[in-house]
Amino acid sequence: MKIKNCLEPVRVIEAVNSVETVIRDIADDADQEDAFYVCCLDDIVEKFKIWKEQLPRVQPHYAVKCNDDLTILETLASLGASFDCASKGEIAKVLSIGVSVKNIIFANPAKLASHVKFAKSVGLATMTFDNESELHKIQHLYSNARLVIRIRCDAEDAQCPLGMKFGCDPIKEAPALLRTARNLGLNVVGVSFHVGSGCREPKVFHRAISLCRDIFDYAVTLGYSFNLLDIGGGYPGVRGSSINEIACVVNKALIEFFPDESVQVIAEPGRFFVSSAYTLTCKIYSIRQVVDDNDNTKIQKMYYINDGVYGSFNCILYDHQVVFPKPLKQHKGAEQYFSSIWGPTCDGLDQVVENMMLPEMKMGEWIMFEDMGAYTLPVASEFNGFPIPEVHYVATEAVWAKLKNIVTIGDRTFKPVDGPVAENIPITISNSNSNNENVIELPHYNAKGYSVVAGDHILSYINIS
Ligand SMILES: Cc1ncc(COP(=O)(O)O)c(C=O)c1O
Repeated sequence: MKIKNCLEPVRVIEAVNSVETVIRDIADDADQEDAFYVCCLDDIVEKFKIWKEQLPRVQPHYAVKCNDDLTILETLASLGASFDCASKGEIAKVLSIGVSVKNIIFANPAKLASHVKFAKSVGLATMTFDNESELHKIQHLYSNARLVIRIRCDAEDAQCPLGMKFGCDPIKEAPALLRTARNLGLNVVGVSFHVGSGCREPKVFHRAISLCRDIFDYAVTLGYSFNLLDIGGGYPGVRGSSINEIACVVNKALIEFFPDESVQVIAEPGRFFVSSAYTLTCKIYSIRQVVDDNDNTKIQKMYYINDGVYGSFNCILYDHQVVFPKPLKQHKGAEQYFSSIWGPTCDGLDQVVENMMLPEMKMGEWIMFEDMGAYTLPVASEFNGFPIPEVHYVATEAVWAKLKNIVTIGDRTFKPVDGPVAENIPITISNSNSNNENVIELPHYNAKGYSVVAGDHILSYINIS
């Protein structure tokens, strides 16, 4: 029996503010050399509660691309979230945890043909488009799909603008595309947009929802009766941020432009749900001290840590994130030095912090980086042979008691890493504590991480209690 990539046990904590205690525990272990994450599941649960309170009419479809960790997907699914998938791999992953295709939108306006065929094979009908070639492709491969036209409406300021790549012009292009769809006999059911990831202009949602209204109205003239409005992603998720302002704009715009509650409103939030749940902690394993060429009284400390821009900090390059180092050890009143922080690879580009005043730190000290849950792990590589940090999960007893009820084998379960969904097959589970053996039905996965075949014996599985 092969089981790799087992997830870490969930550590039950007394309160959310005990996360740092867990980080210290792990860092204090003499054998701990690699960087590691601590993910607080309470944070995800709290975010879901905030979403429901602030945007009660909008069903969140979590954008899997943002962080495709199975524990996160399972947690969100158990809370009632739906999912936004961009590829066959993401769809398979979400299906593997038992989510219904009715709760998934295939929100990639430009789709590979094999991915459309896969969507059809599993009955995932709702998908976006923004160009004519896509309409012909879909007519050929999945003519009864439920289509959602994606329009462009960019925030004036966003961490990662998306409009240059996706979204048709709502005035110059959308009407013609809808006419083509009509002529091809395709079933268009609604409109979507994405104002840009990490949106810093809440008012853009009013402009975008107003444009969607115009397109709903135009569609009526073609004989369509749209019933789906998808307001995309863009909601901030770091500590101290809030979706309050965006929610006010969205709620008002929905009342103004879509008072008819029979129109289903969905969104595709990514970073909102996961950014603040993850804290990355890295170890200083080398230090250089250099003197400024022009001013020899100016000393710069260069710290080398065990994760960098080819690993978790790829978010600096791809997601335009600014990261804030927090030394784990207290340095109250200590002298501050110009400091830079570097990743472990041989590349000069591998710089995490360019120049910041920091207290002097010693070899072996640890540095925390909060808000590292979004667009970090799924993009990280093992370039130069450096491992991607492991994730340790924490939850309070109350949250864990709720989540525990959704796992398949009491306190214990095992999880696939990836792979197509297949039929359930009988598997023997041996409980090493009691010598009991149970035969249960589990899905068979033939995935990168592991596979099980009928009659397999599972001796090792993930203890998540
Ligand atoms: C189609 C789509 N939906 C949703 C998202 C998630 O955006 P965010 O993380 O800003 O909420 C993205 C991000 O790139 C996206 O491309």
